[in-house]
Amino acid sequence: MSDNDILVEVRDLKVHFPIRRGVLFDRTVGHVKAVDGVDLSIPRGKTYGLVGESGCGKSTLGRALLQLNPPTSGEVKFDGVELTTLPAGKLRTMRRRMQMIFQDPMSSLDPRQNVESILTEGLQTHGIGANRDDRRRIIGETLDAVGLPRWALSRYPHEFSGGQRQRIGIARALVLGPELIVADEPVSALDVSIQAQVVNLLDELQDSLGLTYLVIAHDLAVVRHISDVVGVMYLGALVEEAPSDRLYTEPLHPYTRALMSAVPVPDPDVEDRRERILLAGDLPSPANPPSGCRFHTRCPWAQPTRCADERPELRSIGASRVACHWAEQIAAGELRPHEVTAKITRPEGEGEEPGVVSAPSEPGSYV
Ligand SMILES: Nc1ncnc2c1ncn2[C@@H]1O[C@H](COP(=O)(O)OP(=O)(O)OP(=O)(O)O)[C@@H](O)[C@H]1O
Ligand code: SF4
Ligand SMILES: [Mg+2]
Repeated sequence: MSDNDILVEVRDLKVHFPIRRGVLFDRTVGHVKAVDGVDLSIPRGKTYGLVGESGCGKSTLGRALLQLNPPTSGEVKFDGVELTTLPAGKLRTMRRRMQMIFQDPMSSLDPRQNVESILTEGLQTHGIGANRDDRRRIIGETLDAVGLPRWALSRYPHEFSGGQRQRIGIARALVLGPELIVADEPVSALDVSIQAQVVNLLDELQDSLGLTYLVIAHDLAVVRHISDVVGVMYLGALVEEAPSDRLYTEPLHPYTRALMSAVPVPDPDVEDRRERILLAGDLPSPANPPSGCRFHTRCPWAQPTRCADERPELRSIGASRVACHWAEQIAAGELRPHEVTAKITRPEGEGEEPGVVSAPSEPGSYV
């Protein structure tokens, strides 16, 4: 694939939030490593799905890509232009080409603005449309594209259903004519029956407008349906990335295997027989991530060598990229899963004992 086919390129991206303490003297006592070394590329016109547990850094990564969370270090190239060092004025101009859709349209839409005003605001900010009529034409076409009637223009967000509100959120992004849309949990707040409509709308818009998406979602089925490539995040980093179907049929990383084993299969016989991997314990704190492989405190395949002290690189295995020292041996069945007792790591000063704290928890079980 030539460089020209890649719209977004992220290299070793880190976003660390300072943890501040103290009443009189505000001091930094540590950092939440929300995103801690991510590399990924999104080809033009394709969809990159991002999944992972709550708190693993998905939203922070999406926001950092658009420079809404300033990265601590690393590179973000959009259409060949490095964004992290771009002067503010140029970044504002660039923002028109990169838009975001949020999980909860009610809280992301201003309740005091009617739809026309919501859609006009962005056009005016970016100087799009020669005059009022021209802006009305653009807005009308956008409403048609997202399946909203013209009378919606004079209405306010609370007058719409959840699905229609998300269409307004999509229209607000679309009206600016972006190339990239970062959709952060775009259907999580919607009824299941409405979710499919909104996912299909995103799909159709991609086909007709050649859009590129980063779709963040908890729901693995939603991501599979819409994505060309899926990245799985754990504690601020990608642990696996693969073409969508391959990730679901042949997960290679132990964490991905655990996630996939929790997705129900429609065939009841297969559902009864298949392996389930229950992960022990909660996600460790991103303020004090485990040493070595960050998944080693919960990994059913963790080995006495390498796992606790050597951070695995994201390396290519076939069409996938996997961050596990033992991925080949696990795939070949040479290593078997064992039980894990969870350990929770807390930020220094939060527990009785800083660092690693044993947690009473159910060991993982395997069928
Ligand atoms: N502005 C901020 N300041 C400090 N910490 C933050 C900030 N934003 C996010 N975090 C922390 O960074 C980590 C990653 O958060 P993020 O919201 O990116 O996760 P997520 O994967 O999107 O989770 P969810 O699935 O619940 O939306 C969390 O520990 C969160 O508490
Ligand atoms: S490197 Fe070790 S701990 Fe990490 S996922 Fe692989 S087997 Fe598990
Ligand atoms: Mg989030």
